[in-house]
Amino acid sequence: MLPVRLSGARETLLVTLYARALDARAADPVLGDTMAAEAVDAIDFDFGATHITPRMAPTVAVRARFIDEWVREFLREHDGEATVVHLGAGLDTRVWRIAPGPAVTWIDVDFPEVIEIRRALFPERPGYHMIGSSVTDDGWLERIPTGRPTLAVAEGLSMYLTEEQGLTLLRRITDRFNGGTTIAFDAFNRLAIRAQKANPAVRMSGATLHWSVDHPRDLVRDVPGLRLRDAVDALTAPGVERLPHGARMMSAVLRPIPAVRHMSRYLRYER
Ligand SMILES: C[S@@+](CC[C@H](N)C(=O)[O-])C[C@H]1O[C@@H](n2cnc3c(N)ncnc32)[C@H](O)[C@@H]1O
Repeated sequence: MLPVRLSGARETLLVTLYARALDARAADPVLGDTMAAEAVDAIDFDFGATHITPRMAPTVAVRARFIDEWVREFLREHDGEATVVHLGAGLDTRVWRIAPGPAVTWIDVDFPEVIEIRRALFPERPGYHMIGSSVTDDGWLERIPTGRPTLAVAEGLSMYLTEEQGLTLLRRITDRFNGGTTIAFDAFNRLAIRAQKANPAVRMSGATLHWSVDHPRDLVRDVPGLRLRDAVDALTAPGVERLPHGARMMSAVLRPIPAVRHMSRYLRYER
């Protein structure tokens, strides 16, 4: 068993990993990430502390499946010749779920101690690399090759950054890569940031959420060169039919309220 001791924002990766593992063990999984279940079995950690139950697991699995679909779409649009940079990858096994072809370079980025755990847990794969760095640090971006269509994708990361850090990151990505760049991530609005104490990842880790994207078009103004392709409310996105009955009922009742409808969104920009 691999002992894993993390704190703050880093520790939250155990919550999402465990949710995907529980989903994989369900009779009718949403995502079916069996590698996540194997990783949980290999890690020495009290996953009960995450307070994630099998009923809640689809919430994370639906999000992962939605973002996986955007990654597949990007690879199809570029005939499988591209670079994928997965920011704040945690212990997500996305590169194995997508299983990109040999012409794809895939790079997972997260804090050095997280990458160390990835190296101990997961096998190597042709075209697959990892960089141990905060996404807010200088240096890691220069290690990403340019000259090819590039997708920067992040799941469950933006809210842990401050607005300044998030905007700087987006500006640095758009500056480094020319046309053919896509940036896809999920973001919370102000209400979701205010309600953060209800978030199991925040409750367990004591991490603080900061950045709210209330108007996705504002990023087009703040980050020169960015174009908004999609802003999809998580509450109505494909896959919500797999959420627990109670969550679907609550969402149906509260959905007419814009601040509730936009609490969590999938955003896709192009450069
Ligand atoms: C909620 S977890 C999500 C992990 C993974 N994307 C998933 O869906 O399972 C948040 C992740 O963001 C990472 N993270 C937070 N701030 C970061 C930063 N400044 N640089 C790199 N990674 C960061 C954490 O280490 C953690 O892996």
